[in-house]
Amino acid sequence: MGITAKTTAGKPELYHDLAAQLAALLDGETDRVANAANVAALIYHGLPDLNWAGFYFRRGEELVLGPFQGKPACVRIPLGSGVCGTAAARAETLLVPDVHDFPGHIACDPASRSELVVPLLEDGEVTGVVDLDSPLPARFDAADREGCERLVAVFVDHHRRHSR
Ligand code: SME
Repeated sequence: MGITAKTTAGKPELYHDLAAQLAALLDGETDRVANAANVAALIYHGLPDLNWAGFYFRRGEELVLGPFQGKPACVRIPLGSGVCGTAAARAETLLVPDVHDFPGHIACDPASRSELVVPLLEDGEVTGVVDLDSPLPARFDAADREGCERLVAVFVDHHRRHSR
């Protein structure tokens, strides 16, 4: 299945295209694990300069590793720990230009230098996060934040509609 991206288009156009590709990938499928796996693959192969992209799902007071692309990663992260656990505990997106400056950062892959974490908010509850890591410092900006929040919204809205 083709993923068209990593072009010279601007970031808003790139995320617009990825959101359309994601809607097409999710169409007609209700399995969360399968759909999360395709979200991770779309992001990892559709955006340049990433070394990890994937999900952690909330299980009580922990985040547990979900579908991802990249090297094997930490399986369990307590809420409030690291970038992922902090984003989940605060229910807000975290953009970390240099993970070395983030107290408590969890170095699953020492190559990671910057990170963007977007929480999954469903019915007012944080049900997980999408985590993007890059080997480049300051890889992510406000356009990435907005674009990734949009991709996560496509996933969450799809499953809200299909859980009725
Ligand atoms: N660095 C993350 C842990 C997850 S991995 O990067 C895949 C963190 O501090 O939460």
